[in-house]
Amino acid sequence: MRQKPFLIAPSLLAANFGDMRGAVQTIEQSGGDWIHFDVMDGSFVPEISFGCKMLQDLRPLSKLPFDVHLMITHPERHVKDFVKAGADHITIHLEAAVHIHRLLGFLKENNVAAGITIVPSTPVSLLAEILHMVDGVLVMTVNPGFSGQEMIDECLKKVTQLKDIKQKMGYNFYIEVDGGVNRTTYKRVLAAGGEVLVMGSSFFSAADPAAEVAFIRGGK
Ligand code: DX5
Ligand code: ZN
Repeated sequence: MRQKPFLIAPSLLAANFGDMRGAVQTIEQSGGDWIHFDVMDGSFVPEISFGCKMLQDLRPLSKLPFDVHLMITHPERHVKDFVKAGADHITIHLEAAVHIHRLLGFLKENNVAAGITIVPSTPVSLLAEILHMVDGVLVMTVNPGFSGQEMIDECLKKVTQLKDIKQKMGYNFYIEVDGGVNRTTYKRVLAAGGEVLVMGSSFFSAADPAAEVAFIRGGK
């Protein structure tokens, strides 16, 4: 899955919702690796963004992996629809579902990469019983709900903890970092062990998103 030293996943949450087709094209043309979908329900997080119809309608427009970050309560009620709509990876919040084990199993059975994520206040230790079965771990480096927030640097120590566990146990999950990744912070993210960098506002607010991606790729 990963030939490059790290991947970049621009987030549509920071795009102009009046032109999602254009946003997908911008990601494609700028060298983004994955398209990150932030699904928010107004309950798990304050804002409401979009649902699976967005994926379904955008699916024919791109071959890039659709990386779906579910910031919703009761993810078990919705995962099936996101699988059907064309998600390649689905990331669920540990804080949002009791039967995470069952949910991860469901994703794997359906050949969708099974991701788990934790908010800034949740420790890595709570993932101990499921790390052997996940395809990805997303570390939130802001409190979820909005793009354009400043990175909470302390969260990066969790990235390093995961990197160490991965090495020690021989696990193969990717480590994704989400929140406040930009020209100033990306080096710290990579140094900590981040392998997939979500970029929301730093990508879509840039005058030249392709230059932004090139800058960050060149920095390694
Ligand atoms: C925040 C979302 C992020 C967001 C990132 O809740 O999960 O994916 O879009 O935006 P930036 O990169 O602007 O922090
Ligand atoms: Zn996200």
